[in-house]
Amino acid sequence: MFTPRWIQLFAASSRAMVVALAIALAMFVAPVSYADPAAPETSASGVHGMVVSESDDAAHAGVEILKQGGNAVDAAVATALAVGVTNPAACGIGGGGFMLIYMAKARAFYALDYRETAPLQARPDMYMRNGKPDEDLARDGILGVGVPGEIAGIDAALRRFGTMKFQQIAAPAEKLAGEGYAASPHLAKEIGMLAPKLKNDPGLAQVFLKPDGSAPQAGDTIIAKNLAATLKSLGDDPVANFYHGEVAAALVEFMKAHGGIVSAADLANYRPEWRDPIHHRYEGYDVYAMPPPSSGGVVLEMLGALDSGHLAGLGVNSPPYLARLIEVMRQGFVDREQYADPSFVGVEIQKLLTDSNILQLRERALHPKKSPPPPAAHDHGTSNLLVADKAGNVVALTTTINTVFGAKVSVPALGLILNDEMDDFAVAPGVPNAYRLEGERANEVRGGKRPLSSMSPIIVTKNGAPVMTSGGSGGPTIISGVLQVVLNILAFHLDATSAVNEPRIHEQAAPDVVIVEQAMPAATRSALEQMGYKLKVVPELGAVGAITIAPAKFRGAADPRKGGGAVGY
Ligand code: DON
Repeated sequence: MFTPRWIQLFAASSRAMVVALAIALAMFVAPVSYADPAAPETSASGVHGMVVSESDDAAHAGVEILKQGGNAVDAAVATALAVGVTNPAACGIGGGGFMLIYMAKARAFYALDYRETAPLQARPDMYMRNGKPDEDLARDGILGVGVPGEIAGIDAALRRFGTMKFQQIAAPAEKLAGEGYAASPHLAKEIGMLAPKLKNDPGLAQVFLKPDGSAPQAGDTIIAKNLAATLKSLGDDPVANFYHGEVAAALVEFMKAHGGIVSAADLANYRPEWRDPIHHRYEGYDVYAMPPPSSGGVVLEMLGALDSGHLAGLGVNSPPYLARLIEVMRQGFVDREQYADPSFVGVEIQKLLTDSNILQLRERALHPKKSPPPPAAHDHGTSNLLVADKAGNVVALTTTINTVFGAKVSVPALGLILNDEMDDFAVAPGVPNAYRLEGERANEVRGGKRPLSSMSPIIVTKNGAPVMTSGGSGGPTIISGVLQVVLNILAFHLDATSAVNEPRIHEQAAPDVVIVEQAMPAATRSALEQMGYKLKVVPELGAVGAITIAPAKFRGAADPRKGGGAVGY
């Protein structure tokens, strides 16, 4: 049928107007606030320093150490130990993590990997039952446990860069554990959700459930006396006791009694690794990250692919910007399949970060292929914390016991909650883990190997001086969340609080679905749907913190999605 040209043009322009109107509406709708008005401050500014943590008590512990004269490394360790007490579902001395450190005097970056390792007896087929992979075995229960790296990492960082002894730094955590702390709304919710599983573990039930088996309310006091005693027993040589002494003996005995495979040799052989930090540019900034087995390189690849993209002109969270993000995220997650423990697999990280690889990623993002996907799962284990001190030192630290309450197994006498980090390996090629991430051979289980992680602490410099740091929790949404918060600050010039509070999206290639926070304005969502994207709307995506750094002016933001605190001084 013939349609006059002006009608065609009008129809096209009214479609364009609908999209333009949707974009305009999307840009002017005020961001939804996640903050509970009664909750501690998630934003702060400071003159001498700043600590941002997913636990307000832990952020105060870090600032207490800064005020005692400690540096950013001392404060980061104090915060990590404290958050292990007050957010025990997320992290603790039964887990492991990554620490990215900038030391101002040396003008140098250091990357400390204290990720858990697979026990020496671990085998690629250890989660196969009757010829089929059983991923639950890697998740809940004693076979999910990797050799903890937390204490070894903390000790290595303190010995190299700290100014204080372990007991001085552990004091706030010991006090919180021994005298008690108020359960945060987030923790109370997690305990409530997991109460049926916590009931099955005598140590977890005793500390986290009321005598009648019910979950505590937010604000109720939780006391972890055995954990306080364990922290005290570590003295000033925590590695000796944890990996070779009484703690090691108690842990190995527990393993033997409950069918676990972490042995005395596993503990004695555990070593944190100082690795070479990785780096890429973004619009005149230098962005530093952790190398594999972290996913810092994926964030750098994505940022590189968006470099010189004139994002500011598109507008923060505008549909055209989000469409670009989605395509770049999808391709970044495709590259992530090549990431693994570099001690076992030749990960060509420098090649992945070359301009030509990043240009290829950008090309793939411009010519996307899509496939319909199943929905993804997201929960909140893991804890990120950030510290900047007055000497110019910066630490971005992410630590985890993996899923909420890790393996859901504790060693009661030690108050130690065991991680389920083995689930971050590919239990078999193509079998998705708790975060619906599928793995390949590179990330298969091997004794002594570290599983691939999504944790991606970041520090950004301009003209050689740190200007911001970020990191987060939430499995693979760490990668996309950190990317968005970094872009919100570097490309869109938002302050730390707005950058963290803006709604976020996530796309991880498989499953190939765009996950969108419900706070993303409806008009933006429908504009994305009109572009052909299949969306899954979720209440929230992970938790990402940020600190922006200018001379004598620190601004910190913890993510109100999870609570926590930013404390400046
Ligand atoms: O290292 C990793 O990638 C995971 N163990 C992180 C888990 C996490 O962030 C839990 N929160 N959803």
